[in-house]
Amino acid sequence: MTADELVFFVNGKKVVEKNADPETTLLAYLRRKLGLSGTKLGCGEGGCGACTVMLSKYDRFQNKILHFSANACLAPICSLHHVAVTTVEGIGSTKSRLHPVQERIAKSHGSQCGFCTPGIVMSMYTLLRNQPEPTMEEIEDAFQGNLCRCTGYRPILQGFRTFARVSGGSGTAAKAATLKDHSWEGSKGPWKEEETGIEMKFKNKLFPMIVCPAWIPELNSVEPGPEAEVEVSAPDTDTTATDSLPGWRRAGSSFHCATRVRSVGGNIITASPISDLNPVFMASGAKLTIVSTGTRRTVRMDHTFFPAYRKTLLAPEEILLSIEIPYSREGEYFSAFKQASRREDDIAKVTSGMRVLFNPGTVQVKELALCYGGMADRTISALKTTRRQISHFWNEGLLQDVCAGLAEELSLAPDAPGGMVEFRRTLTLSFFFKFYLTVLQKLGKENSEDKCGKLDPTHASATLLFQKDPPANVQLFQEVPKGQSEEDMVGRSLPHLAAAMQASGEAVYCDDIPRYENELSLRLVTSTRAHAKIKSIDTSEAQKVPGFVCFISADDVPGSNITGIYNDEMVFAKDKVTCVGHIIGAVVTDTREHAQRAAQAVKITYEDLPAVITIEEAIKNDSFYEPELKIEKGNLTKGFSEADNIVSGELHIGGQEHFYLETHCTIAVPKGEAGEMELFVSTQNTMKTQSFVANMLGVPANRILVRVKRMGGGFGGKETRSIVVSTAVALAAYKTGCPVRCMLDRDEDMLITGGRHPFLARYKVGFMKTGRVVALQVEHYSNAGNSMDLSQHIMERALLHMDNCYNIPNIRGTGRLCKTNLPSNTAFRGFGGPQGMLIAEYWMSEVAVTCGLPAEEVRRINMYKEGDLTHFNQKLEGFTLSKCWDECLASSQYHARKREVEKFNEENCWKKRGLSIIPTKYGISYSIPFLNQGGALIHVYTDGSVLLTHGGTEMGQGLHTKMVQVASRALKIPTSKIYISETSTNTVPNTSPTAASVSADLNGQAVYEACQTILKRLEPFKKKNPSGSWEDWVMAAYLDAVSLSATGFYKTPNLGYSFETNSGNAFHYFSYGVACSEVEIDCLTGDHKVEGAFVQGLGLFTLEELHYSPEGSLHTRGPSTYKIPAFGSIPSVFRVSLLRDCPNKKAIYASKAVGEPPLFLAASIFFAIKDAIRAARAGNTDHKMKKLFQLDSPATPEKIRNACVDKFTTLCITGTAENCKPWSVRV
Ligand SMILES: Cc1cc2nc3c(=O)[nH]c(=O)nc-3n(C[C@H](O)[C@H](O)[C@H](O)COP(=O)(O)OP(=O)(O)OC[C@H]3O[C@@H](n4cnc5c(N)ncnc54)[C@H](O)[C@@H]3O)c2cc1C
Ligand code: FES
Ligand code: FES
Repeated sequence: MTADELVFFVNGKKVVEKNADPETTLLAYLRRKLGLSGTKLGCGEGGCGACTVMLSKYDRFQNKILHFSANACLAPICSLHHVAVTTVEGIGSTKSRLHPVQERIAKSHGSQCGFCTPGIVMSMYTLLRNQPEPTMEEIEDAFQGNLCRCTGYRPILQGFRTFARVSGGSGTAAKAATLKDHSWEGSKGPWKEEETGIEMKFKNKLFPMIVCPAWIPELNSVEPGPEAEVEVSAPDTDTTATDSLPGWRRAGSSFHCATRVRSVGGNIITASPISDLNPVFMASGAKLTIVSTGTRRTVRMDHTFFPAYRKTLLAPEEILLSIEIPYSREGEYFSAFKQASRREDDIAKVTSGMRVLFNPGTVQVKELALCYGGMADRTISALKTTRRQISHFWNEGLLQDVCAGLAEELSLAPDAPGGMVEFRRTLTLSFFFKFYLTVLQKLGKENSEDKCGKLDPTHASATLLFQKDPPANVQLFQEVPKGQSEEDMVGRSLPHLAAAMQASGEAVYCDDIPRYENELSLRLVTSTRAHAKIKSIDTSEAQKVPGFVCFISADDVPGSNITGIYNDEMVFAKDKVTCVGHIIGAVVTDTREHAQRAAQAVKITYEDLPAVITIEEAIKNDSFYEPELKIEKGNLTKGFSEADNIVSGELHIGGQEHFYLETHCTIAVPKGEAGEMELFVSTQNTMKTQSFVANMLGVPANRILVRVKRMGGGFGGKETRSIVVSTAVALAAYKTGCPVRCMLDRDEDMLITGGRHPFLARYKVGFMKTGRVVALQVEHYSNAGNSMDLSQHIMERALLHMDNCYNIPNIRGTGRLCKTNLPSNTAFRGFGGPQGMLIAEYWMSEVAVTCGLPAEEVRRINMYKEGDLTHFNQKLEGFTLSKCWDECLASSQYHARKREVEKFNEENCWKKRGLSIIPTKYGISYSIPFLNQGGALIHVYTDGSVLLTHGGTEMGQGLHTKMVQVASRALKIPTSKIYISETSTNTVPNTSPTAASVSADLNGQAVYEACQTILKRLEPFKKKNPSGSWEDWVMAAYLDAVSLSATGFYKTPNLGYSFETNSGNAFHYFSYGVACSEVEIDCLTGDHKVEGAFVQGLGLFTLEELHYSPEGSLHTRGPSTYKIPAFGSIPSVFRVSLLRDCPNKKAIYASKAVGEPPLFLAASIFFAIKDAIRAARAGNTDHKMKKLFQLDSPATPEKIRNACVDKFTTLCITGTAENCKPWSVRV
């Protein structure tokens, strides 16, 4: 081994890399150099866990091998010298034996699209290596850095519960290959530098030298200091440091820098204004030892330590050696608080460290430190306020003075970066109030009540943290009818067919397809302006980047540059851009890294044009797409005139990012003759990909073959928007004659491809004193973005669902599509339905409040009955909603819960509970009638094996599994004989996109038809040989020259709703559901704890918030800023049941569409939150609160806190100066 050799071990095999490139990440090395594609790229910024691997190194202090889970996307390979890396391929395989972790996640339905699965498997595996019998709490903690968008987490935890100590399961962690089995030599080793990794990736920084401080023993220890201080050497990981300091984690509420290996030293020196640790160190009076060549100095981390944004007192050549944290003294109290959007693994909005020291034996303040992150461009200390409190007593007077002082001292400008100005200001007071009460509580216990305030018992809950109970373990599947044969899998809970391969990393996603020898990489070049003329494009610098091949743009398109569902888009913007993220061109290079650098080097100049960003701006500027949609029934004027009461109001519903774990990806392979091209795409829409590419290249569709094996999630985001990437890649392949690949980075994906439509509704509802609604008018506006895409059909569905489940005699709904300069919004699970229904439930809850009647009673009296006509004149048959409603009321013990909630609210001032029960009715069919068709193709081979293909794509929803179940029952053969390889345009043509929850119904029926054809052809051979086997009949048919290949086709009958006449069936049938949710909110911080939800809807209605600048640029471009629900977000009690004995005659084998309908049921959380806020406002006797108040969706901690108006919020009202441009606007 020479000095320039990097040596590490991957799955037991020694890897020697000469002159390793310091920029190469472990992920790139595993996937590209070693061909280990099980480890996935989900975000590239350490925020999703898809790339999790286990690193093992010998620790000389503990004299043992330590195992860490680590994000391979940020770890430079150079930091891995003498480290053993274990990837998902290294622990088990379907070819040999799955590791129990892989097996259990697969069997428990914990893998749906499977893209997150290898990362989750590796987090669990690492935990088991360190702790063979973990508690459920440790299991949940291990997943703090892992996200999953499909499963809702519960099945994963359910599968892994069997490893837990208290699970009642086996409690043993079965061993697979251990480190000892590997030829790994123990040695000291590094861990990675994540912040540096982020800077290289996102800020394009190149460093002349990268040092790995974890190799330096002096920088890696936690020791009790000589003067009653604990000394942490600087780069010690936050995990090690927190493990070594008892009470450290307990000190604050939800306090972690994420549990992956990130260094304490790195956290301090990065000087992030929202660092969790820095306010704590500052408040504690920590001392830092700083060294340089020949010098050593000690500084206290006080208000001078961070002189400016991202700056510390350290000179560039200095190194932070250690941090000394003083022990607490007699009469000293310390707390830390953090509020983030999501409770786990989330950067703070505001974070703080607070310390008070009393004069001996008194409650008179000797020292007070209140340090905050998130309130300035650096960590700050509220010196003015705290200095004033010296010698004051810990009582109400001090509380009021501190609050008034903080409100003044920690003010933020209305346009402060990060936005949420009033919320952040209020939090500084709320945190202090919590600290005040906590200290009071402790002083009370210590009997020091002299001159000290008294703790009102109704305030005590303000100091309690939400406890994280492990989620309960419930899911009820529908039972199969008695006597159903064991082999008949229909209606049984069958694990996803590919689950085992997904868990072992063998499942192949688009970017896992091995690279072609002459393959090139493409990177899109997109607009930085929302609306502008393109003045010039200069690629001269890009051409200097190594490996540059070409730049492509509109001028290169051989066919038509016009594209889009309504022919209102361009493959590449020409002359003008209409949104930030608009595709202008693309660079093609030899590698992904070079493509990124070259794309950044393309210089574009613009001439700005006026832009329309928000719905309000679109209304003001009359900027709409035609047509205006309308549904009207009854006589509105008469209805309103008869009403006892009329309420009108407004509701804004924010957009949502799909956040499929696998971003958009296409590989285009030119075939070299007659314009043929093969595309491997992660798309829900093979047909449109084929036709749009053909149109762009100017070739007939029969030359373009589109193939989809599986997607790592879609949720509607790959229904049309995948094509903007595919057409660009196809053009590059055409121009270069080489295979070209592009997988979008997470930030590009979020920027370019749009999401769920934000909606604004203006409603007016007329109702009787009894709560009976007699008239309703709703104007709906959606933010469609810069092209029509599917916006019209999404608005149609919103209008068709504006009644939700209620019979309203006089009703008018209108819908306008706002043409704005945002990336085109598109399909997303529910397709406008959730927006329409949320608005319905919103005014319904206002009706109940105004009438002073229980909301559940008002909902019930307005509910449809069997045989009623909807507002679009469709008769409701098989209306099972009333049954669902009664079952849910009973099984949730709604009325008993309600009494409990009321009692809790009386007894607690700063924590409130809310309860809500919400129904849903979801129409099943595409709203465009001709799309309601499905196709299938079956080949039976002479060995009896069956190759099945159908029109639907697999994105984790288990469609292929269901289709195999259908074929298995129809052909009466075991599922093991049937295989689905992929979806492709040359097997089943002209397919509808896999969407609208109907793919199983449509394609299932087509599969059934194809099976019937095969069965008919086999019939004579069965008759001839009744005791023969399937294989005998197949072979006999073959020998008799009978075709064993058949197609099947199905179209849904009797559909054809017309908006013009408000007649014709819009849907084939309806899916119904009811959910009851209970929440508890912290009125001081807006934090909440949920007891019942469906997780993607939970994200939509309570968590996920896209932030756009007033100029239309998306701020939230990755998991660090856009928060989808994580493991800790799921409810602790979560019961799901399917209604029994309600067969659905309208779909194949009584199938029921459940892909989209349940999402809306999470609205019950939104309304339970609103209920809890209402209780908080009712308890506020200082201010006269209106009964009706606006709460827009999502109900984030910010909105909850701001709605719980109290003495703290009123101190922090921030006016908006004229001409002030806020950091973000509501689009
Ligand atoms: C996904 C993710 C989530 C995160 N969540 C949070 C969170 O919730 N709260 C929070 O506070 N932070 C959070 N962070 C930030 C994280 O804590 C810091 O990135 C981390 O602590 C920095 O450590 P590092 O080992 O990555 O730093 P490195 O990349 O090693 O170093 C960062 C910088 O500090 C310098 N440096 C490092 N050590 C020394 C030293 N001893 N002397 C002098 N200079 C030094 C380096 O030169 C470099 O410039 C998150 C980061 C990621 C990636
Ligand atoms: S954490 Fe590495 S890809 Fe997301
Ligand atoms: S299964 Fe977890 S993201 Fe799809």
